[in-house]
Amino acid sequence: MSDTFAFDAATEERARTILKRYPEGRSQSAVIPLLDLAQRQAGGWLPVHVIEYVASYLDMPKIRVLEVATFYSMFNLEPVGKNFVQLCRTTPCWLRGSDDLRAVAKNVTGCGLGETSADGLFTVVEVECLGACCNAPMVQINDDYYEDLTAENFKDVLEALKRGEDPKTGSQTGRTGSEPEDGLTTLTAEGA
Ligand code: FES
Repeated sequence: MSDTFAFDAATEERARTILKRYPEGRSQSAVIPLLDLAQRQAGGWLPVHVIEYVASYLDMPKIRVLEVATFYSMFNLEPVGKNFVQLCRTTPCWLRGSDDLRAVAKNVTGCGLGETSADGLFTVVEVECLGACCNAPMVQINDDYYEDLTAENFKDVLEALKRGEDPKTGSQTGRTGSEPEDGLTTLTAEGA
């Protein structure tokens, strides 16, 4: 990989749009969204020279940008697979079966936690609560959430990704959002 980096035209435009949200002199507050843009352009991770580019873009000390990049689990400091699988293992997801999901991920992708498959298709990591506990257990894969998972439907999702397909995102049991699993119990009719 080349060790030079600069935002391409589309990313530059998005960066400028983001910077407009901040008062003059406060552009460093945009460090997280700009690191996110940089990571997307760089192929899913942040090599040191990319972090340095963002530091220079925002006129920040490199160490401060590195501190941000190393603090948040959304930033990767090593290359990741095409499908970046973040398994939520915090209490609600754990109580609802995240251990089974970890076993399925290992079986289908060959990856334990923190590993990337030899074919480059998958990286599997463990993360803390992703804020979708009502639909636990869940995982995030790239930008999408897959919710109401079981060993069976999670296996189907991973197998589909392996075949290069685009599996349905969101609840895998068909419920809308975080509605009760057994159907509505209040506001069951219009005007009720
Ligand atoms: S505990 Fe998994 S989304 Fe909150």
